Amino acid sequence: MEHTNISNPAERQAFERIQELTIELNQHNYNYYVLDNPKLSDYDFDQLLNELANLEIKYPQFRLPESPTQRVGGSIVKEFKSVKHRYPMLSLANTYSEEEISEFDRRVRSAVHENVEYVCELKYDGVAISIIYQNGVLVQGITRGDGVQGDDVTENVRTIRNIPLRLQGDYPAEFEVRGEIVMPHHRFEELNREKEEIGEMPFANPRNAASGSLKLQDSAETAKRGLEAHLYYLLGENIPGNTHYERLSLLKTWGFKDSDTTFKTDNLEEIFLFINDWDEKRKKLPFDIDGIVIKVNSLEQQRQIGYTAKNPRWAIAYKFKAERVVSPLLSIDYQVGRTGIVTPVANLQPVHLAGTTVKRATLNNEGFIDAFDIHYGDHLFIEKGGEIIPKIVGVNTAQRKPDAQKVEFIKKCPECGADLVRSEGSSGIYCPNELHCPPQIKGKLEHFISRKAMQIDSLGEGKIDMLFENGLVKNIADFYDLSYNKLLGLSRTISNNEEKKPKVISFREKTVENILKGIEISKSIPFERVLYAIGIRLVGETTAKKLARYFGNIDNLANATKEELTNVEDVGAIVADSIVHYFNQSENLEIIMRLKQANLQFESSFSEERVGDALAGLHIVVSGVFSIPRDEIKSLIERNGGKNVSSISKNTDYIVAGEKMGPEKKVKAEKLGIPIIGEEELQKLIAIK
Ligand code: IVH
Repeated sequence: MEHTNISNPAERQAFERIQELTIELNQHNYNYYVLDNPKLSDYDFDQLLNELANLEIKYPQFRLPESPTQRVGGSIVKEFKSVKHRYPMLSLANTYSEEEISEFDRRVRSAVHENVEYVCELKYDGVAISIIYQNGVLVQGITRGDGVQGDDVTENVRTIRNIPLRLQGDYPAEFEVRGEIVMPHHRFEELNREKEEIGEMPFANPRNAASGSLKLQDSAETAKRGLEAHLYYLLGENIPGNTHYERLSLLKTWGFKDSDTTFKTDNLEEIFLFINDWDEKRKKLPFDIDGIVIKVNSLEQQRQIGYTAKNPRWAIAYKFKAERVVSPLLSIDYQVGRTGIVTPVANLQPVHLAGTTVKRATLNNEGFIDAFDIHYGDHLFIEKGGEIIPKIVGVNTAQRKPDAQKVEFIKKCPECGADLVRSEGSSGIYCPNELHCPPQIKGKLEHFISRKAMQIDSLGEGKIDMLFENGLVKNIADFYDLSYNKLLGLSRTISNNEEKKPKVISFREKTVENILKGIEISKSIPFERVLYAIGIRLVGETTAKKLARYFGNIDNLANATKEELTNVEDVGAIVADSIVHYFNQSENLEIIMRLKQANLQFESSFSEERVGDALAGLHIVVSGVFSIPRDEIKSLIERNGGKNVSSISKNTDYIVAGEKMGPEKKVKAEKLGIPIIGEEELQKLIAIK
């Protein structure tokens, strides 16, 4: 870096510290995510990361491209740039049969006329990615797209912890590495729980979740999704190594996580053993794989064997068969979730499938029932792939009786009798009676006390059931009216089917003290989390944060119009409607009033160290690419009293435009006569006042 002539001693010190911290933190990331061998506590790591982040805010000119602060994301991309792959991203020929693997082997041998060695790898079930490194620094990450052209998702790729931002060792000046981005099972389940909590449709499988997470506009959100990369292909000019296996080993020496499952053999029998072994072992893996990939190891032989238009001829994917059975649909239960979404569940004639008896399987939603045109009594195909959960994958229409009735989704809530409603923006049908429908009330109570909301750890699902069933808590404000006397001795009978002996549980002194202590502590939880906790439909953690920052307190938010709400980043018309609807209900206003009386935080304590008022009252849209990250421009605006808004309207005062500002934005700004200024003019505006 050319900063060796910094004359100001404070700047020089900052520059050196930034370099030192970047190297040190990247090494710790490597120890943690690649070697699985952390040498620093999470707390100490965060302390150093904070120090670096603060220095970078103060001295953005010294930030290094491989800075570990990018792991937490923060940049917003409205639309991903479409870029052409330097080398097309091919897919693999698939097979489900061992016989076809033998044929593949015969073809390979007849093309090369010599001994052949193969590399067997796991076939990761995620989204393909191509990552480009120049001079040891990650410069671009591109999705597969149509194989010729993909989306530039660099900022999101940078947040994936086991992908190095800077390499070590003796790497070539430029190369591409390809692999699969997957979401581990535990993160997938957590994410879906969170989605259900705020009334969004969950992802159908980890692959969709990985794909959706890689294409989020806000990289800070991607950073939270816990994605992992598994890399399996290195390509470029002048790359050392004569075999695929050697190249994978090189990746390891440059700081990539190695794949310890990769297996080399020249023997077909061993390939079959590897396949069968993993067909069993995959059930215990923390992520999904859907097969085994077999590749010719020698790069020279790969060249001899060549390619078809779509696939390399030197590789083949063996896909694991999902076990499949047929069972008749006996009836359908409709389950009302905590956010009111109604999920149809098929009751099936019990059938044995891959080691368990299946009696029930989800029918997901109305769209699913329609797509398969399901009729009562239908014989349904059920599969269990790598996943533990059985899936309905089709209907055997040949077995349908002529008078079979088509399944019609219920019209009334099975829990409270309210008329069901089709939700906008997702394929779900839900019960709108959110304030009086029992599972929804319990759902709201559980969401309120949850870890990311008010974090009242001394209460849990069981205790909430008990409070609800005893009529002590019917809404979230009731928690703050609980007292020692009301709680002590409260009891509930649980009948345990296996023991056949009902069990009575009751609250004793210690439990009651803990509950009340937890409730008391929750009064200091900051506004943004209270806003998330009160459970406005479609307002997740991040949206709550943005709303709290923008409006500052609950009254401003409650009085905001739909138009004002959509000014907030990430708030579209549907979310805005949901917020307006929430504050239009008198029951909700009463709950807020009671929570205020209980002294919960309804004012934002967030302050971006205010340095001036030059932009006070101004609504500013920031668009395009700047010399410093866009978030720093936004932070500058806020620190000087301005408000960042996401879309242009007649209320916008300025547009700060960088390079590649969206053309529609430009047209709209000109039409409304809103001044478009650059980065320097913004700085001047701040300096003048
Ligand atoms: S090799 C030219 N290896 O499966 C060779 N692909 O249909 C390119 N995949 O698009 C691919 N695990 O997204 C390769 N160990 C592995 C893989 C793998 C998963 C994906 C990849 C590819 C698709 C093939």
